[in-house]
Formats: sequence, structure tokens, C-alpha cells
Amino acid sequence: MNAKEMIAKMTLEEKASILSGSDFWHTHGVERLDLPEFMMCDGPNGLRKQEGKPDHLGINGSISTVCYPTASAVASSFDTDLAMKLGEVLGAECRREDVSMLLGPGLNMKRSPVCGRNFEYFSEDPYLAGKMAAALVKGVQSRGVSACPKHFATNNQEYRRMSGNSTVDERTLFEIYLTAFELMIKEADPKSIMCSYNQLNGTYLSENKYMLTDVLRDKFGFSGFVVTDWGAGKGPKEGVEAGLDLVMPGGTDEHKNAIVEAVKSGELDEEKVDRAAERILNTFFWTLENKAEKYEPSSDATRKADYEFAREVAENSAVLLKNNRVLPIKKGKKVLFVGEFAQKPRYQGSGSSHINSAFVSDALDAAEGRGVSFVRGYDTKDRKNSHILRQEAVDAAEGADVIVIFVGLPGSYESEGFDRTDINLPAEQDKLIDELSHLGKKTVVVLHNGAPVAMPWIDSVDAVLDMFLAGDGVGEAAVRLLWGEVNPSGKLSETYPVKLSDNPSYLNFPGDHGNPIYAEGIFIGYRFYEKTRRQVLFPFGFGLTYTEFEYMDIRIDKDRISDKDTATVSIDIWNVGRYKGKEVVQLYVSDNDCRIMRPLKELKGFTKIELEPGEKKTVSFTLDKRSFAYYETSIHDYYVESGDFTIMIGASSADIRQTVPIYVEGTTDLPCHFDNFSAISDIMESRKGKEILGPVLDKVFEGMRSGESDADQLGEGGTEMMEKMIMEMPIINLSGFGIMTVEEVAGLLSEING
Ligand code: BGC
Repeated sequence: MNAKEMIAKMTLEEKASILSGSDFWHTHGVERLDLPEFMMCDGPNGLRKQEGKPDHLGINGSISTVCYPTASAVASSFDTDLAMKLGEVLGAECRREDVSMLLGPGLNMKRSPVCGRNFEYFSEDPYLAGKMAAALVKGVQSRGVSACPKHFATNNQEYRRMSGNSTVDERTLFEIYLTAFELMIKEADPKSIMCSYNQLNGTYLSENKYMLTDVLRDKFGFSGFVVTDWGAGKGPKEGVEAGLDLVMPGGTDEHKNAIVEAVKSGELDEEKVDRAAERILNTFFWTLENKAEKYEPSSDATRKADYEFAREVAENSAVLLKNNRVLPIKKGKKVLFVGEFAQKPRYQGSGSSHINSAFVSDALDAAEGRGVSFVRGYDTKDRKNSHILRQEAVDAAEGADVIVIFVGLPGSYESEGFDRTDINLPAEQDKLIDELSHLGKKTVVVLHNGAPVAMPWIDSVDAVLDMFLAGDGVGEAAVRLLWGEVNPSGKLSETYPVKLSDNPSYLNFPGDHGNPIYAEGIFIGYRFYEKTRRQVLFPFGFGLTYTEFEYMDIRIDKDRISDKDTATVSIDIWNVGRYKGKEVVQLYVSDNDCRIMRPLKELKGFTKIELEPGEKKTVSFTLDKRSFAYYETSIHDYYVESGDFTIMIGASSADIRQTVPIYVEGTTDLPCHFDNFSAISDIMESRKGKEILGPVLDKVFEGMRSGESDADQLGEGGTEMMEKMIMEMPIINLSGFGIMTVEEVAGLLSEING
């Protein structure tokens, strides 16, 4: 049977019943038709399957399983193969536990570094976030489990997340906040999507027809079903009409009754109920087909393999931010570990993604046999004794060659449900680092954080290794990275600002009463810091390694294309250092000259490769229309303005190694709605304007250049100055200057507007 056939057999009540859950985690079954219930569970950095009391904030118990690094770490691996494998591993765990849908990944943009849930999100860059999310979704679904990417959309803060209104202009919405969703949908075809709690431009997402139907389905081609975030459902009829399908959690008949009543009273078309039911059933049937192949329940062996994979993800995600010839630590060095996090690391965030880990490795245990001693240094729970603990650390440092300080954000600092108020580490940790780094010893800081922190001590420490929230393998991964058994290869998936007030959303975050106006527009993250030449602590895409890579011989197959063509850019990467290592090669595109505001450059490609010492590999990227386009509101679509672009390839957004130019011809005509007050330069930007007005202006400018006009009386450069002034005038002013009559201007405009 397929979804349509099933619907034909269902009563209105039965159809309405499957549009909400049967309880906190299950959909409704229909016994009469042998339709079972399906279970959905959080992650996404592990499986949070609750068999007892349910909740959506990670308070009550869940099964014991493996916790993987959170999205902010995974994104820093810049490794889509790794993300895909993570999805496969998560999907397999769902299958073993009979879970049909995994509620994740989260791919909201990091508008501000203090959003409490940033640890669950990938990046400040939509291309990176979209690519990583697509890989993860593909992995999960390859195991016959639906993914449920979330939270659609503009849920970029936790403050008033359930009621706030995000005000976002159209270009910003598409270019920044929807691109990751679009990319992920087109590449990975998710079976469902979760809509967020908040409002966008005055309408709750769960009843926002523009977003759930016009954009999600009609523009992006989404073919799965939309489920609400837990408790985000509003009017049942309004939801169904807007394109919402499933309301969660369930457990009462309220939603079903309201739908049945609305149909019976003629307020809601039954076809719309069928439409929602069909979308849900399509996924159920897909799940049922896949379930035919049985998975053995979890065992010690699967746990062990999963744990090892969690450690591998952590090792590939950590970012080495500074290294003043101290790392990797040489065998035989006397090393002092300082900090509670060496013993009790912070490795995941709080809230609905909270995983009940079967085993977490800590660095102290993992470093056994390496000549490491330990002092606590600080106590995250009891801060009274911090000066005593600090003094203990200073005393212990005496006999050490290298001091490794394990610090980070305590759980109470960043979580689902609230935002941070600043980007500082706890004061006693900053103080501890400061004191230890002035003892004349080599000091290394190991960070555990879901989002950027300020580093007032950066100049006095020798090395910083950022582990992020690295999952169960955190301690072992940190030790293997510190001693060089693994070469660090992560790159920052978000900019680390010097201070919070440098961030572009600062004045509008979280917005009065939780109603943020996204006034910074498309300029979030590096797009803003670069455009305003603002100094940052560490730029987007930055990360060190123990080896060294050279970038050579950039080349492009065509130096001129139309926006209907593609171009391929290649470059050779050579490992010229002494260690085997991985490099994230990043490609950015810059529009050299554009009529509208654009970032200095934008990420349009990346790849991660592994090279032995002395080895050289070629990497290639294919660029298409979207690599050069911006979102043009007059056509509600992406648009390429003809002109010169620069393709930049480098090791970070701030470390471009090679560039190559390309000319791209845009083939879309913008609509012409010019009137008397349209600027001449705007008219000249359109193909028809150039064709019709161009010759008139050429004549005028020629006249000026040949001395027919008085422009040369203005002295050196006078003619160019006049030309520029004319270009910025409303076209009607041509009549005032006696160049054309009012009637001629009208005739010319009607010809251009066609
Ligand atoms: C979160 C979702 C989560 C859901 C179920 C909500 O509070 O925003 O991300 O999937 O709860 O736990």
C-alpha cells in the first residue's frame, strides 16, 4: 500500500489523528489499518532516547549511549566525508534502538557568538553550514532513518525563542539565513524539517505559509513533512493551511478535534488535511520499507566502535589556534596538567541534545604513563577557594617543563533556553592562565567551549588548542593531539572576535523584548569583520597544524564565462613540513565591482586532503552561477551582475595564498520600471537602458571631451567630474540641461521600460 491508497481508506478522524503525536515522542498509529506508531528522538550529537519520563530540555533520563562532538566542533573539521560517516553512525544507532527519526541536525546561522545554542549549530557561513548539514542528513538517511533538520528559520537566539519576532529583510533572509537550508534540501532531500518557535516578520513559523509552502516547497523543492518544534504549534487550521503537517508533542485529542471540526464547519478544506497526512505517510512508508532489514541491538562492540569514532571526529575537529614551538610535546618532558576540566571535561551542551554517555575519557587518565602530574587549579562549582587552588598550581608549576591548562565554559554558561551575556571565561580561569603564563614556563591552554571566548592572556601563553565540546573521546583526543600522535587539522567555523561589542549584531541582540531586528543585514561573521577592517582574535577558517603546506600553480579552465556555464579552478597543495597532515583548502569569491553592497569575499568551496611529508596533490573546484550571484529582490531570485570577479584560494579567510581572475556575464535581465527620477547610472545598468540611453550619453560625453561644453573650464579632471555627476542625476534632469526635452525623456523611458 502507498500513502494515497491508505488515505483513501482513512476516515476524517483517522487522518486528523496522525497530524499530531500520540505522546511526547511518538506519532499516532491507526490500529484498524495496521499503521504503527513511529518514534522520534533528539540528538543530534548522539541519541537521546527516553524510555521513562519524557521532556524536551534534557532533564530526565535517557538510554546510555555515545556522545559525539557537537555541531560547532564537527563544522570545524570542514570534512563532509566525516560528517556523512557521523550521520551513518547515528542512523545505525537509531536503527538498533528502533527509532525512526532523528531530530537534527541544527543548522541555524551564528548571528551572535552569545546565542546559547550555538554549540548545536555549524557556522556563521551558510555555505559551510549547508554542506556539513547535507552530509550529515545523507548519512542518517542512508540507514533508513529520517533526519529532521531544524529550526526553520531565523531562530538565532534563545532569549524569547518561543515568542520573539525576527525582523529580517528579504535579501538577508535568503543569502544568509536560508541558504544552508536550501543547500541541504537540494543535496540531501530530508524526509522532514522542524519549524522553529519564533515569528519571522510578524508571523509564527508554524503558521507561516510564505515560509512553509512558497519558500520551503515551491522554491527549495522540499518534499518531506514539516513538524513543529516541541510546543510550537499554534492554530490547528492555520497550521495546516500554511503547510504545517505534524504537531508535536501530542497526547491529547485537542488538535485532532479542532481539525475535524474545522473541516465539518467548512472552514478547512479536507484536501488540505489529506495533503498533510499524505506527506507524513510517505515518510512512514519509506521507514517501514527500510525497517525490513533488522539491526542487532547495541552491544559492547558497537559501543566501543562508536566511541572510537567519536574520538576520531574530535581529533579532526579540534583547532590549534596558537603554537609557539611548544607542541607537539616531546617525550620525556615533565608536564603539569592544571584545571578541573583535565579530570572532568566539559564535552557536550545542555538542553534537548543532552546525551547520557556510557563513558567519557578525560585527559588525565588518557595521559597515564606520559609523566604527567595534576593540580585542580579552579573549581567550577565552588569559586570561594580559587586563590588557594591557584597558588597550589603556581607551586606545582615549579618542577614542570610544560604547563597544560584545561579551561572552558561551565555548563551553566551556555545552554539551550538562554543566551550568554558575554564571551568571557569564568574570571578565576582567566586569572589562573594569566598567573601561570608569567612563570617563565611553556604554557599551553586547552579550551572546552561551544562558542567563542575572549582570550585576554593570548600574548603570554605559548599555545592554544580548542577542543570545543568534543564528545566522549575528548580527553583521549586532546592527549593524542598534544603529543602529536594526531596532527591538528580543524579550522574555525566562526570568527573569534576580540570582544563581544565588535560583533555586528551587538546593538540588536537579543532585541527589545526579544524582537531582534537583523539590521546588520548580510554582514554577519567574517562578512562584517572584513568589510569594516575590524581586527579579530582569530579569523574564520583559521587553524594551525604541525606541518606546513604550500599552495602552488592556481589555474582556471576559462577566464570568461556566462552565468549559465561553469568554470573549474585547480591548485596544487604540497606538504613541505615534516609531519603527515590534513589541510582544509578554502575557496572564496570576490566581486570586484558591484552596484550593491557585497562582502569582500564569500566562501564558495572547500575540501580537506591528507598529505604525507613531501607529497603533492591537486584539488579542483567547480564554480557555477551561485558562486557569483547575490539575491536580487526585484526578481526575488539570485542574480549575477556582469563583471570581473577574483577567485581566491587559501588556508583561511585571512590567509589567501593564490588568486585568479574571471569575467562572468550575467544573462538575466532585471525588470525595467524606470521613471523620471530614476538615476541615470541605474538605467545604464540595465541591458536595455545601456542600449537606448547609452548612445545619447556617449554623444554628450564626447562633446564635453572635445571642448564643446564648458566642463573643461573646471580645470584638470573637470570632464570626468561632470560625467560622474551626470550619471548620478535623475534622468529628467537631462531636460533641465538642455540635452533632451521632457517629451524626449518620456519617449526614451517608455522605450526602455518596454
Ligand atoms: C528543541 C528541539 C528539540 C525538541 C524536542 C525543543 O525544545 O528546540 O531542538 O528537538 O525540544 O526535545
